Amino acid sequence: MKRHLALVSGASGVVGRRLAEHLAQQGMWRVLGIARRGQSLSAGIDMLHLDLTDAGAVHAAAERFNGATHIFHCARYTFAESTTEPIGPNLDMLRNLVAATESVSPSLQHVHLVHGSKYYGSDLGPYKTPAKESDPRVLLANWYYAQEDWLIEHAREKPWTWSASRPHGICDTELAIVRSMARVISVYATICKALGMPLFFPGSEANFRALYQCTDAAHLAQAIEWMATEPRCANEAFNVTNGDYIRWMNLWPQFARWFGMEPGPVRSVRLAQAMADKGPVWARIVETHGLLPTPFEQAAAWSYGDFIFNAGYDIMSDTTKLRRYGFGHAVDTEAMFLRLFEHFRRSRIIP
Ligand SMILES: NC(=O)c1ccc[n+]([C@@H]2O[C@H](COP(=O)([O-])OP(=O)(O)OC[C@H]3O[C@@H](n4cnc5c(N)ncnc54)[C@H](OP(=O)(O)O)[C@@H]3O)[C@@H](O)[C@H]2O)c1
Repeated sequence: MKRHLALVSGASGVVGRRLAEHLAQQGMWRVLGIARRGQSLSAGIDMLHLDLTDAGAVHAAAERFNGATHIFHCARYTFAESTTEPIGPNLDMLRNLVAATESVSPSLQHVHLVHGSKYYGSDLGPYKTPAKESDPRVLLANWYYAQEDWLIEHAREKPWTWSASRPHGICDTELAIVRSMARVISVYATICKALGMPLFFPGSEANFRALYQCTDAAHLAQAIEWMATEPRCANEAFNVTNGDYIRWMNLWPQFARWFGMEPGPVRSVRLAQAMADKGPVWARIVETHGLLPTPFEQAAAWSYGDFIFNAGYDIMSDTTKLRRYGFGHAVDTEAMFLRLFEHFRRSRIIP
């Protein structure tokens, strides 16, 4: 019996897509995914194409939210030419969606925000690690703070509660998503191998040695569902990572073995620059091995690789709060990467 209606904003994105698919498989959820565009998802997920920054359009679509019990806000607005998230439109999207839902659905029980460890300034430079949910904010304003502040204030004396997740470095099996670490590593390794090179680490020496963390998207989806339905999590934020920490220097030899390559030392290059002329090499690989005809620009997001491999300081969230509140699931990050490489091989993205 489908007791809940979940509105999943950003349902074509990394987090929203996996969450929508996860909820639809659980039996008790009806799912309405929201994004401006995007392919249809699995059976059981309705998709509404809507610009959430447009208050009038969201208001006009409100009837579709009738009966909603949960909002999972996974949408992330960026300007086309930039990867940073502006505060105004991101706050507007949340406000418009919550207001329209409240106007038609007295059954609303919970609003979940998907945030991340940029909450702790993980993108700004070295910070206190492992970061705890209770750590003080950084001075620089960001959209997470704006959304959280608005939601906390707005939820006062409302019959519904809220929660927030703070993942980092999300990894998923979805083939259409190229802003993916596993994808960057897979395609990078495949090209290096074809050129007869060892698997050099393309980032900085400091980053090779620093501690890092990832979040499996399926694990995050499971944690979000739990937060939204576990009464103890009401009005709380939780770091959600796989639960372990890695150093690329330890994983790199395992990766090289998997790809059948020599593990190289660090050879720092900007991938966006170094890979710019490798399109013909990729085309040859695709043809030789009968791979899916993935255009080189859609094979991997090299600038995302540069972002991931050059931080040069520890990126660590404390996940004890999640466990203290009762979520016991964890993921082995090394095994996760090898599983993803295998998945890309079976899906004929790489040989
Ligand atoms: N990916 C990661 O590694 C990562 C790591 C840590 C935290 N996070 C956090 O996780 C959350 C989700 O990120 P993500 O990586 O899943 O984002 P994403 O892949 O970029 O997806 C963004 C989603 O938002 C939708 N969207 C954007 N503008 C919209 C608008 N005006 N109206 C309606 N929908 C709109 C997009 O669809 P359309 O463009 O079709 O509208 C898409 O479905 C964010 O808070 C992010 O900071 C992500």
